[in-house]
Amino acid sequence: MTAYLITNVSVLGAAPTDLLIRDGVVAETGVGLTASGAVTVDGTGLVALPGLVDLHTHLREPGREDAETVETGSRAAALGGYTAVCAMANTSPVADTAGVVEQVWRLGREAGLVDVQPIGAVTVGLAGERLAELGAMADSAARVRIFSDDGHCVADPRLMRRALEYVKAFDGIVAQHAEEPRLTEGAQMHEGEISTRLGLTGWPAVAEEAIIARDVLLAEHVGSRLHICHVSTAGSVAVLRQAKARGVQVTAEVTPHHLLLTDEKAVTYDPVYKVNPPLRTAADVAALRAALAEGVVDIVATDHAPHAVEDKECEWAYARPGMLGLETALSITLDVLGPRWDLIAERMSRTPARIAGLTEHGHDPAPGAPANLTLVDPAARRVIEPTELASRSSNTPYARMTLPGRIVATFLRGEATVLDGKAVK
Ligand code: DOR
Ligand code: ZN
Repeated sequence: MTAYLITNVSVLGAAPTDLLIRDGVVAETGVGLTASGAVTVDGTGLVALPGLVDLHTHLREPGREDAETVETGSRAAALGGYTAVCAMANTSPVADTAGVVEQVWRLGREAGLVDVQPIGAVTVGLAGERLAELGAMADSAARVRIFSDDGHCVADPRLMRRALEYVKAFDGIVAQHAEEPRLTEGAQMHEGEISTRLGLTGWPAVAEEAIIARDVLLAEHVGSRLHICHVSTAGSVAVLRQAKARGVQVTAEVTPHHLLLTDEKAVTYDPVYKVNPPLRTAADVAALRAALAEGVVDIVATDHAPHAVEDKECEWAYARPGMLGLETALSITLDVLGPRWDLIAERMSRTPARIAGLTEHGHDPAPGAPANLTLVDPAARRVIEPTELASRSSNTPYARMTLPGRIVATFLRGEATVLDGKAVK
């Protein structure tokens, strides 16, 4: 196993030091370290962070390997500074059995670029009618702890209650895609001034807020853990703030795109901006940024949603919702939060690792910690070229934008997955 000596690097913004990585752990830190046989990485000007953890990634395998595979998505993740990703269940077939979650988990191990932790579906086929075999997925080799019908809402309150009850047996968590389907039939974008002007059917904020309000009450009643996917409105933040003040076990994520972009983008009619939940107003963006800084929203999760060209480069109404996220998330978060490295580590690594129960991840680079870490050059600026991304798809909303920060290296259990900004394999 290769040893690495990272010299003159700032751990989370502190004064520069050296880091020796050996046998899968951070073996030593301190100024002026030497290690014979170690590969030296010049860390001058770089910031070391715990490896990022994404709670919400669509890898598309099995079923849509033309859009992404576990391997291409894993490479995109490593290049984005991630050491672990949770793979959403809306594949084909759906990840609603022990067999499928084990397949995804095994493919992740074979790719060996990040830890791929499968998420299991809540209901069979994401159809919202019968509970999937949650216990069998939890007991499988994949050890599933997060369950989600993401892409669809678990709209039936009785099923949602049962799922929340069931996962308590193994300290699991239900991750809800909060969207009351009766309020979003035919919806194309955020319901507001711009949807009215463009004549597109609106997706009202209340469709999200009503489900979150219902589900925090259910989670409170049952005494179970609830996670809210991609929170997008100021009203959702208000509901979450109240629930947390009462001690409900609820956590929530926000995506980079909901922290940066608004429904104004829809006036271009470019489907690259079509996403579910939709881009909201500037007031929502401001509320989400404040909630993330404060902790009412716990984490940044990408909702990395690769789509093939024919599913994206078509008329707005026919385009699939979703945008790429893994290779740009750190840059957008850095842009939004500024170089507050401890906060970034908290929102993008420690807390998501804790929510997902990924005990090897989310540790600051310190002696004895598993060597899952990433090195960022905060002074670098890069122009995003969709065709240069490692993802098999190109549907990034940041094409040709100049973004701050660049991932220089990523280490998974002490092995480099990215060096000099390039994937090692
Ligand atoms: O925009 C989205 N895309 N939202 C979802 O909930 C699902 C996702 C996908 O699978 O493409
Ligand atoms: Zn979703």
